[in-house]
Amino acid sequence: MSKKSPLVVANWKLNGGTDLIAASVASIRNQNFNARIGIAPPYVYISGLVNVLRNSSIMVGSQNISKFESGAFTGETSAQMLKEVGCDFCLIGHSERRQVFLENNQSCRTKVERALVAGVMPIVCIGENLQQYELGLTRDILYRQLHQTLDGLDLTGETLCIAYEPVWAIGTGKAASPEVVAEVHEFIYQELDAILGSAANEVNILYGGSVKKDNAAELLAINHVDGLLVGGASLDPEHFAQICAAANQVES
Ligand code: PGA
Repeated sequence: MSKKSPLVVANWKLNGGTDLIAASVASIRNQNFNARIGIAPPYVYISGLVNVLRNSSIMVGSQNISKFESGAFTGETSAQMLKEVGCDFCLIGHSERRQVFLENNQSCRTKVERALVAGVMPIVCIGENLQQYELGLTRDILYRQLHQTLDGLDLTGETLCIAYEPVWAIGTGKAASPEVVAEVHEFIYQELDAILGSAANEVNILYGGSVKKDNAAELLAINHVDGLLVGGASLDPEHFAQICAAANQVES
């Protein structure tokens, strides 16, 4: 089975600071990764991280972007601004944004459009909650999230990533089982194929939700798992470095 070069992304959420930047950079900067690595710190640390990672292949991204371009929108940060300070990618529609800040597929779609225009790669986060999972609604939810967000957009695979993050696995210490991940990632791949045609082959589909150093290799071995989105474990630089090392072992 041939795999694409994996992408491992750290999502620091509302955590971290200059100490974590220093420790994380020290633990990964001088390693030779074939895998692509990215870090998404809180907005205020993006420029500093871009500066210390200059001349390295490690990418820097944001955890969100505004759906607006500019104007009287207090507290917002546009895709264009993020591009200007050196962001390579942005998370869009993380479940915490959907739950706490009431984002929906429509706002995610607008954000994807903004990111593409600015040249910042969108990583669109999708996933069902526990109740939906238990009711067997996973495919319905993911179908709507994918199609309502992406249908009809001018996309090539390389400019897009998807992160499947079952809400019930985020921060719980209980990752989805390999069987569930395999089935859901196959489904996502098929839907991307319906939306993008052959460009679907270029899209990295990440798994997120309680990824740890001990389960990273097993998850990465699953067909159509092309990388990982890592929350809690990315706050421990040694653990994150080990997850990146696991991605390095994936044969492409
Ligand atoms: P977790 O978070 O790794 O702490 O489960 C993942 C995420 O929310 O992106």
